[in-house]
Amino acid sequence: MPGDASVGGVAEPSPSRTGPEGLVGIPGEVGVPKPDPILVADGIVRRFGGVTAVDVGHVEFQRGAITALIGPNGAGKTTFFNLLTCFDQPQEGDWSFNGRPLKGIAPHVVARSGLVRTFQLTKVLTKLTVIENMRLGAPRQMGERFLSSLLKPLWRNQEESNTASADELLVRFKMDHMREQFAGQLSGGQRKLLEMARALMAEPELIMLDEPMAGVNPALKQSLLEHVKSLRDEGRSVIFVEHDMDMVFDISDWVVVMAEGRIIAEGTPEQVGRNQAVIDAYLGSHHDSELDAIIHGDVPDHEVPIVTGDPDRTLSEEDR
Ligand SMILES: Nc1ncnc2c1ncn2[C@@H]1O[C@H](COP(=O)(O)OP(=O)(O)OP(=O)(O)O)[C@@H](O)[C@H]1O
Ligand SMILES: [Mg+2]
Repeated sequence: MPGDASVGGVAEPSPSRTGPEGLVGIPGEVGVPKPDPILVADGIVRRFGGVTAVDVGHVEFQRGAITALIGPNGAGKTTFFNLLTCFDQPQEGDWSFNGRPLKGIAPHVVARSGLVRTFQLTKVLTKLTVIENMRLGAPRQMGERFLSSLLKPLWRNQEESNTASADELLVRFKMDHMREQFAGQLSGGQRKLLEMARALMAEPELIMLDEPMAGVNPALKQSLLEHVKSLRDEGRSVIFVEHDMDMVFDISDWVVVMAEGRIIAEGTPEQVGRNQAVIDAYLGSHHDSELDAIIHGDVPDHEVPIVTGDPDRTLSEEDR
């Protein structure tokens, strides 16, 4: 374990380099090295025609911590997620997970290596039941392979163990009563929960959540928040994209801010909250919005999120 130095049998107490403790005292500067990074990106550029959607110099994400990726609409957050998880490939740049370069790796191989993501538009399969969706999250499906399908007992054992893990997760996410329902019958918020639970079937080391709260009602939001925190408590690393600033401030150990494809700030929530470049970026894209009111003191901060989400867009449009 990092920080567990022991000399001559005597344990030297030292602060952990991993998790939130490792971030204490790190300066809030763009590109700042982290003591124990799980994901590192360098010089990532993604253009769509004439639009540069992502142009990130250097960023490191701390292991065992919750990092929020925030920024105005169109800042490039989802595109950056797609690139880091290999659902899309950049024109330039390199990135690595646990020290392993990911360029050119297929997304399902990335998932098997411990990096799993969820989508801004949920990708649960509406015509399958909740438990069937969960089973699809298991990293290895032996029955898929011809040779292993000949070894039916082995395959059946694996399927039973996948189902047992899925049922455990459904209990943990309080969705066990919905086990046999079609995912298409669930609300937008319940689908978000199902997608997060399904991602955990792969037992990821790092889970990346793209707007886990968008379109989720306040009661479910609270339980999603608790689930995200419990992931960190289990030692997993979390990176999430979110527009709801209450959530960002509530659970993040570190915040990375994007605007127009670039990272313009990073630091603790308090540091980025008073960063002028961040305030300007939000003002630039939200003239006459609620943020003007917040910054100019017309409305108390806690009553209005900095940027409102776009719940309608996130309710499984592809499912309709
Ligand atoms: N497949 C694509 N083809 C062309 N342009 C794209 C594509 N995907 C994204 N873009 C453009 O890249 C930019 C960044 O988009 P992206 O979806 O990554 O932003 P975002 O920060 O996730 O925004 P939001 O908060 O609204 O989800 C936008 O200008 C968008 O129009
Ligand atoms: Mg997005």
